[in-house]
Amino acid sequence: TTVAVLFGGRSSEHEVSCHSADSVLAALDRERYEVVPVRITREGRWRVGTDGGPELDVFRALATLRAVDVVFPLLHGPFGEDGTVQAALQSTGVPYVGNGVLASAVGMDKEFTKKLLAAEGVRVADSVVLRRGNRSLSQENRDGLGLPVFVKPARAGSSIGVSKVDSWDRLDDAVRAANAADPKVLVERAVPGREIDVGVLELPDGRLRLSPPLEISVEGDRGFFDFTAKYHDRGTVFTVPAALSPRLEARLRALAAHAFRVLDCRGLLRVDFLLGSGDEPVVNEVNTAPGFTDASQYPRMWQAAGLGYGQLLDTLIETALA
Ligand code: DAL
Ligand code: MG
Repeated sequence: TTVAVLFGGRSSEHEVSCHSADSVLAALDRERYEVVPVRITREGRWRVGTDGGPELDVFRALATLRAVDVVFPLLHGPFGEDGTVQAALQSTGVPYVGNGVLASAVGMDKEFTKKLLAAEGVRVADSVVLRRGNRSLSQENRDGLGLPVFVKPARAGSSIGVSKVDSWDRLDDAVRAANAADPKVLVERAVPGREIDVGVLELPDGRLRLSPPLEISVEGDRGFFDFTAKYHDRGTVFTVPAALSPRLEARLRALAAHAFRVLDCRGLLRVDFLLGSGDEPVVNEVNTAPGFTDASQYPRMWQAAGLGYGQLLDTLIETALA
C-alpha cells in the first residue's frame, strides 16, 4: 500500500503539523507501506517525496498523488483541517484518511460546530460572534456573558490567538489578537472546571470505538491550556484514564460518539469537554485532525486503551480504504 503523508501547510499550525508528521513517518510500518512524504510549504507549494524534488502548485502535486493508494492528511488549521484540502483530494478520487469536506469545514469553525451540536441537544458554552466590521460587544451581551470570557478566532487551532479576559477593558486587545488569525471572533462564557478529552475512532466496518477519557491539568498561573502549555511546557499533565465516576465517563463517551455522528465525521475525532458546575458536560470544541505526535492527547488515549501508535495508524488507513 502506498501512503502519501501530507504535512506542513499554510496555517499558523505549520510547525505542529511537522511534529505530527515526524511521529507518523517514523512509525508507519515500512514492510506494509510505501511512504511518500508530501511537505506543503507555508506559501502553499507542495514538495512530493524526500529527495528535494521541485515545489509544485497544488494541481500538479495532486496529479502525482493520483497514483498512491491513500493520502494521510496531517494538516492542522485552515487550508488543511478545514475541508479545503479534503475537497481537492476528493475531486481526484484518491481515498484519504479521516474527515471529509463537510465535517472538516464545520469542525474548524467554532461558530458552526456549536450551532450544530446545540441543535442536537449537546451543551456548548454560550458565546457571541463578532463578524467582520463589528468588533465590539454590546453592553447587553457583556451582561449576558459575564466575566471572565474567552476570546477566540472562530477558525484556528492550538489556542493561537486565544485570550482569557478578566476585565472588559482588556476586551479590545483580545479581539485584536484573535482578529490577527481570523476576521470572525467568538467571545465565549468561561466554563470553570476540569478539561477532559475523548477520542473517537471509526473502525473499518463503521463501528465507533471510544477512548478512555484524558484529563488535562495545566500547572502554574497561565489559566488555560494555551499554545505554550500545549507545546513547550513540561508542567502540563495528562491523566488517562481520568478519574471520573463510571456514570460520567459513560456520558462523555456517549456525547463524543453523538458529536461524531452529528458532525458527519469519518475516521477520527477528538472531542474536548469542560466539566462545569452543572451535571451535564459542555463540549468546548472538536478536532477533526487532532495533534498526532506520539505524545499528543489522541494517540495517548489510544495507548492507554491498548492500541499502540502504529496500530492506530493501521486502523485509520484501513478505515479510509474500506
Ligand atoms: N489543533 C491541535 C493540533 C490539536 O487540537 O491537537
Ligand atoms: Mg483544536
